[in-house]
Amino acid sequence: MKQGTTKSGVAVRQFETDDGSVSLVRDDGVTYRSTSGAHEESLHIFVDGTDRGTDRRVLELGFGLGTNFASTLQNLAGRSLSYFAVEHDPIDPELVGGEGKAFDIVREALGALQEHERFEYSDDNLRLVVVRADFSESGFESLGVNAVYHDPFSVDVNPECWSVDCFKWELKNMAPGAVLATYGAATRVRRAMAETGLEVAVGPGIGRKREITFASNDVAQLADFKVITHKLLR
Ligand SMILES: C[S@@+](CC[C@H](N)C(=O)[O-])C[C@H]1O[C@@H](n2cnc3c(N)ncnc32)[C@H](O)[C@@H]1O
Repeated sequence: MKQGTTKSGVAVRQFETDDGSVSLVRDDGVTYRSTSGAHEESLHIFVDGTDRGTDRRVLELGFGLGTNFASTLQNLAGRSLSYFAVEHDPIDPELVGGEGKAFDIVREALGALQEHERFEYSDDNLRLVVVRADFSESGFESLGVNAVYHDPFSVDVNPECWSVDCFKWELKNMAPGAVLATYGAATRVRRAMAETGLEVAVGPGIGRKREITFASNDVAQLADFKVITHKLLR
């Protein structure tokens, strides 16, 4: 298993998660995905959780190892993908495992972001834009995405990413009917989403996680889940 650093010099090393896929852990013990299965978690929460059968247009907060990007690209089934991601501290591309087109593009993106503040790739049915910046300085204002992958580190590690301001930024970038997905399930996080004006619902967890959270600007998109917005705002 490889070791390396992020651009700012944080030491990270690879570890194998329970489904055999590889993720990273920082020196202080913070993991990029849970130990119970990085690939399965990415598919369940982000890719399948927000898929409504249309062409895919995604905003991601926290590009990390590109696991969510790769899972999305690998599950397009003939549709197109426009993927916009922010990442303020890109990892060394050598730390990305995985074979094939998606992982090659991830390594290219992370390599470019060591030098540049923006990476763009496009081909027939794919456009990827990754910006090296804090979300608040990304320049993404009204992307009209139909999915938001809210995937920073936890609220204890990245509190700024679980604030009303951050959810407002994501809401501004959402087209009507867009769905936001996150592994975060704390009540204070869900309340911040509701205060932003999003409808909030409890989704089924995966691995050792009992619950996850979905949110939308259209409650009809949350019909499969338990909507709790009214409880959060009372
Ligand atoms: C859980 S990891 C993301 C995993 C990634 N989505 C994947 O699929 O591999 C969280 C990432 O969010 C990034 N991050 C944290 N706070 C941020 C911020 N304020 N702006 C931009 N990126 C941030 C971290 O540097 C880290 O790479």
